[in-house]
Amino acid sequence: MSSPVEQIKEKLDIAAVVGSYIKLERAGGNFRAKCPFHNEKTPSFMVSPDRGTYHCFGCNKGGDIFSFVEEIEGTDFPGALRVLADRAGVVLTRENPAERNERDRLFTLLSDVALFYRRELRKNTDAIQYLRKRGLLPATIDEFQIGFAPNDWHVAENYLRSRGYTEIEMEKTGMSIRSERGIHDRFRSRIMFPLCDSSGRVVGFTGRVFNSDDPAKYVNSPETPLYNKSKILFGLSLAKTSIREAGSAILVEGQMDLIMAHQAGTKNSVAVSGTALTGFHLELLKRFADKLLFSFDSDDAGLNAAKKSAIPALRMGFDVQAIELGGEKDPADLILESPEKWHSAKRSAKHIVEFFLSVLQKRSPDKRAFRLAVEKNVLPILASIDSKIDQAHFIDVVAEFLDLSRDAVSEEVRKAMIHGESEYVSPDKTEDAPIVKRTPASRREAVERKIKGVILWQQAASEPILPHETILSRYKEIAGAIAEIEETERNALIFEAEAFYSGSSSLENAIEELFHNFEKEVIKDALTEAMTELRRAELLHDSEKAGEILGRCKFLSEKLNKLNVQS
Ligand code: UTP
Ligand code: MN
Repeated sequence: MSSPVEQIKEKLDIAAVVGSYIKLERAGGNFRAKCPFHNEKTPSFMVSPDRGTYHCFGCNKGGDIFSFVEEIEGTDFPGALRVLADRAGVVLTRENPAERNERDRLFTLLSDVALFYRRELRKNTDAIQYLRKRGLLPATIDEFQIGFAPNDWHVAENYLRSRGYTEIEMEKTGMSIRSERGIHDRFRSRIMFPLCDSSGRVVGFTGRVFNSDDPAKYVNSPETPLYNKSKILFGLSLAKTSIREAGSAILVEGQMDLIMAHQAGTKNSVAVSGTALTGFHLELLKRFADKLLFSFDSDDAGLNAAKKSAIPALRMGFDVQAIELGGEKDPADLILESPEKWHSAKRSAKHIVEFFLSVLQKRSPDKRAFRLAVEKNVLPILASIDSKIDQAHFIDVVAEFLDLSRDAVSEEVRKAMIHGESEYVSPDKTEDAPIVKRTPASRREAVERKIKGVILWQQAASEPILPHETILSRYKEIAGAIAEIEETERNALIFEAEAFYSGSSSLENAIEELFHNFEKEVIKDALTEAMTELRRAELLHDSEKAGEILGRCKFLSEKLNKLNVQS
């Protein structure tokens, strides 16, 4: 029986997988799209159903369905495997625990401890009562795998030890803390919410205080090899399909807000957990939707968070709206009071500029205070709007609100744009593959590149037009180089050759011409080199050597002339 990876590749069509994330257009036997991994106006992202591969000529990213899902969902290979196995209906069998690698063991530890906490919750009627009072239905408690950490320093540790995990592993996952007196549980007397990655694996926890006087309302897992808070969005694994379908994501601030939003049916909701919204979060969301709806608290902290999050989001080209909740309520409270009120608030979501104008107007005692508040909060937002058409529109809106001329507002926005440039810290790119712009060093390299592409293309084709051996036999040197080409580059070459030569009436002639050109370029290079040597010999007054090189130059240029006559 073939491996799960092979089974998945057999069952899933790359165009269908990629097409469920982005819009594909047919381009001959291939598909073309705007690349989801970098911002571009003209599509340079290609998908080949025949080869099961994709490649972007803009950012040089490429690969198969697994690397695509890894990239677009911001997960790793096992995460992508889960997502695709699910889709293909392939059952992944658990391997022998002893053979699992370290990372896998940490994942399993977390899913085991999540189950442990869930069983503990069932035993604690007070905690269940509390959750029910907050409005959570039993099905929601199950869906979010909510649990309870008892008021004890060692229960989770003892449970994990009984399951064969080491103290080092307990520490590495953040579940235990080490002190001089040994290790103890991080989470005590807390309602436990597992934090999952986009494929649904538990990577950490956030625990809400319950029946204890611990002043920290929420405690989160620390950063671990599996949990990076600036990359995880709470609820994303349950929300991603709805986000894609709705074309928008709702961002809320708290765990309870998120869970209640899902329960109320707004399943395209996610929350950041214990951190501000980062560039990475935004890049992740951008792969699923172009529109964001913020639903933050309407206090100062909430407004500040909305402004801080809106600026980079607008710069990335998101359409940013905000849901006004009114009063002191957060989404969880509002939904508890009435899901219908939440839905109606969502329906009347406003563009972020209009949201701020409306909120600031209500909060300002007089016209001057309002103007100052707008200057401070709304100008930087206006300045960040990516679309110039949108920007012009909202400049008009602000001008009208403030009773100012559009030129005056425009001028202030221009200043804010210059001033604001340095403020925004772009998402950390260091972990991403660098954007490679390929500029062939010489004409010879360009031609050689095409030949390699033709060979690889024909090797990969189910019905090759030319037996590649005939090409390979002519250039042993290239044949050797071809074996060394790595996967991404190989894909790029194939797509290029295919785009250039497929459908050409006489591929044989075209290739003949390629070789002819290649030969010319090889000779030209040799000639250039010989001329340099000649100059050096002349400078050193080495007339014997100069004579010898001169002979070589003549020979090469005659050869070149002959080739030029032929073409
Ligand atoms: P809030 O203080 O508004 O709490 O913090 P909340 O969400 O309304 O909590 P409930 O409804 O009483 O349960 C908003 C979010 O900020 C983070 C949590 O993610 C919380 O949901 N937070 C808050 C922390 O990380 N640590 C804290 O001590 C408090
Ligand atoms: Mn709350």
